[in-house]
Formats: sequence, structure tokens, C-alpha cells
Amino acid sequence: MSTTTPLPETQPSGTARLLPGAPVAEAVLDEVAAGVARLRGRGVTPSLATVLVGDDDASAGYIRIKQRQAAALGFESPHEHLPASATQQDLHRVIAGFNADPAVHGLLVQYPIPAHLDYDAALQLIDPDMDVDGMHPLNMGRLAVGVPGPLPCTPAGIEALLAYHEIPVAGRDVVILGRGATLGRPLAMLLSQKRPTADAAVTVVHSGVPDWQRHTRRADILVAAAGVPGIIQPEHVKPGAVVIGAGVRYAGRRLLPDVDEACARVAGAITPRVGGVGPTTVAMLFRNALRAAEAATR
Ligand SMILES: NC(=O)c1ccc[n+]([C@@H]2O[C@H](COP(=O)([O-])OP(=O)(O)OC[C@H]3O[C@@H](n4cnc5c(N)ncnc54)[C@H](OP(=O)(O)O)[C@@H]3O)[C@@H](O)[C@H]2O)c1
Repeated sequence: MSTTTPLPETQPSGTARLLPGAPVAEAVLDEVAAGVARLRGRGVTPSLATVLVGDDDASAGYIRIKQRQAAALGFESPHEHLPASATQQDLHRVIAGFNADPAVHGLLVQYPIPAHLDYDAALQLIDPDMDVDGMHPLNMGRLAVGVPGPLPCTPAGIEALLAYHEIPVAGRDVVILGRGATLGRPLAMLLSQKRPTADAAVTVVHSGVPDWQRHTRRADILVAAAGVPGIIQPEHVKPGAVVIGAGVRYAGRRLLPDVDEACARVAGAITPRVGGVGPTTVAMLFRNALRAAEAATR
């Protein structure tokens, strides 16, 4: 990966370069597989535990994808499926059990959980060093002050995507639409860190900024992280800018992205409607899991 190739400031309209996430994920997962082989070479089997509560089909599907990927990479993946009627105490008991098991290195509770349960309270019980989603408040704090720790997966995936596609970030204007805890806010912290693949001038806009378009129109790199279908239209994009579509909403099985397809006519580079940020998120989860296993068995 290099970060040295400058992106032309503007490109002829209608020629936006696509920024797929699959090759980024593949490169990260190759590194993870090599790390797993090293661990196994010294007798350690990395283990990523998953917890599912209830019968949500989509969540069960995400767990299956993660378990399949875990097996392909050589992780063990112990799994606990609690019924929709589970209590907060049931969930806490399962988390405490995995936290205390020396054979388990990473742990995630699939979001969402049934409405009567408190996800944030459960998240706070996960051992921060096993928090492969990188969402524990302690890990958010580590990110804020620049101390190493598991990084939130989607923001880390976006940084990796930009680096892989050789899009310079340092010194450029990055505007993020959305200040949510899973995406916009941690991404702003990540891309403003002093690192060759970050080091940007980051602006975060949200519903408290009624003229947010004024900011997006000057962005070299625009990240849509609102979860409002079609909120980013071509007139909100600077010609030649890089557009990263991370926010999505689902209508049943239909995926409705924040970024209108017509933005490809104005942007210089843009993530595809499907297969942009998503694949990088899963890859970062396994990078966190590998690092957790390495740290726990050093
Ligand atoms: N691709 C992936 O792998 C991945 C991973 C994680 C999340 N996501 C997606 O990313 C999106 C954001 O996730 P999140 O958890 O951060 O959501 P969130 O907490 O709901 O944050 C949404 C943000 O968008 C802002 N916003 C909403 N409507 C707006 C409007 N009309 N004008 C201006 N700002 C507006 C909100 O402003 P206020 O703060 O003022 O309310 C808020 O800051 C969701 O679509 C989610 O599905 C994708």
C-alpha cells in the first residue's frame, strides 16, 4: 500500500473511479491468515467467541458469515445463542464466562439485541482487550488519546480502503456527514491522527448544521455516515472529490445507500453501491481478533 500517488483534483464528469472494498479486505485477511499461522506454529489456536440473542434473521446471518470466515482463517469460534426471552443477567453471565476463559481471545455480541435488553451495558462488560468490534468506551478513549487498542471496525476499514486505493488523506479536507458513535465520531478521531494514512483536516457535520452542504461541497474526501437514503446528491459533491458511502438503511432486504448513484458523475472516485465499505469492516474485525490473540499469548 502506498499513499504517495496524488489524485487529480478534478476528472472529467462521468468517469469516477470505483473503490471496491473486496481487494482491501482480501489484503487484510491475507495478513490475518499469516498471523494465525504464526500463532498456530507456537501452539496457540486463536479464538473469537460470538454471542447472539434472539431470532433476528439478519443477525443470525451475520454471525454465520463471521463463523465461516473464522473457520477459513483458522480461528476457533465458540458461540452462545440466547433466546429472545433472555434476561440482562443471562447475557452478562455469558459475557463473563467468555471473558474468564483463557482459551478465548476475542468476543463480540451481535447487534442489535432484543429491545428489553441494554446493549451498552453489555458492551461495557466485555473485556476491553477482547473487544473485537472496538466499541467499548475504553477503546473509544484509547482512540481519542492515540493509545493502541482495538479500533472500531468500519472507521478502520475506511482508512484502509483509502490507503489501499492510494488516495492521499494527509493534509486534505475530509468532511464526514454524521457524528454517530459507531462511524462518524470515531472516523473523525482516526483520520485526524498524526499518521501517514490519516493526518487530515477533518470536519464533522450533522443535523445540528443546517447548511452542511456548504461543507460537503468543499470536501476533498466526503464520507456519508448518516443512514439517510440519498441524502448526498451530486450538487453536494465537489467535482473530482472522493466519495465514500458508508451510511445505509435497509428496507427489508433492499439496501438504500446515503449516496445517490448520480454522484458518480461528479466524483473523481467513489465506493460502489454494494461492496464498498462493508467488506473492509469484517476484515478489520479479524485483524482485531488476531491482535487480541497475539497480545493475550505473548
Ligand atoms: N458499512 C458498514 O459496515 C457500516 C457500519 C456501521 C454503520 N454503518 C451505517 O452508517 C450509518 C451511521 O451509523 P451510526 O451508528 O453512526 O448512526 P447514528 O448514530 O444514527 O448517526 C447518524 C448521524 O447522521 C446525522 N444525520 C441524520 N440525518 C441527518 C440529516 N438529515 N442531516 C444531517 N445529518 C443527519 C445524525 O445527526 P445528529 O447527531 O444530529 O442526530 C447523526 O450524527 C448507518 O446508516 C449505519 O447503518 C455502516
